[in-house]
Amino acid sequence: MTSAIIVGTPRKAAAPLGTAIGARLIDRHITANFYPTPPEATRALLSVESFEGSVWEPACGKGHIAEVLKAAGCAVIATDLNDWGYGVPGKDFLKEHQPRARHIVTNPPYGRGLADAFVTKALALAAQSHGKVAMLLNLASLAHPARTGFWRSTPPARVWAIDSVVCWPDAEREPPKHFREHRYCWAVWEPQHRGATTLGWLSAADFRAPHTSFSNNERPHS
Ligand SMILES: C[S@@+](CC[C@H](N)C(=O)[O-])C[C@H]1O[C@@H](n2cnc3c(N)ncnc32)[C@H](O)[C@@H]1O
Repeated sequence: MTSAIIVGTPRKAAAPLGTAIGARLIDRHITANFYPTPPEATRALLSVESFEGSVWEPACGKGHIAEVLKAAGCAVIATDLNDWGYGVPGKDFLKEHQPRARHIVTNPPYGRGLADAFVTKALALAAQSHGKVAMLLNLASLAHPARTGFWRSTPPARVWAIDSVVCWPDAEREPPKHFREHRYCWAVWEPQHRGATTLGWLSAADFRAPHTSFSNNERPHS
């Protein structure tokens, strides 16, 4: 493993949203594939999975996953390609060759094959560190003709289907309908796993802060 260089911490205050500047920021978020994970999704994962030792969040964004992992007592290394004011920017996960921590947990960028590339890279790195990989993926990706071969050859130990999670970068504006309808799952691989995948179900509402109907109204580190 490379040295544990970065424990995820906020480096500057989040820029304001809901203004002209905010609108441009949202464009930047979408261009850079920044769709933060609401904390309840990670809390739900931690209710059924444990991560002994250090955890790498390699696409940490503004720390939405990393902060929940830290709050649960994990030693977190947080990196990202882009600079969102959290963790260490300028780290392209797809160009990493050595694990920075034992386990890898993230919601990867989607589109242009990025999520597939993230899964492949994470599994290669976790094979070196003998750790687990947990990825928040599009539920539909489990039944896609381009991926059937992959799932058969590399089955996760567990898949946790999770309801009513909305990954949307604007706390001031409601997400569009297709975002609210999007469904996710946590796919969890572990090195010693052989055989069939276990499927389980998680309800995000069980882990959501009171009065939060969808989303990222909860800041990761407020
Ligand atoms: C869907 S967002 C999720 C952010 C964070 N994981 C979360 O759950 O809140 C994807 C993140 O991947 C980052 N990203 C995109 N390409 C990357 C790459 N090649 N290496 C590392 N991070 C990347 C983006 O900057 C963005 O922060």
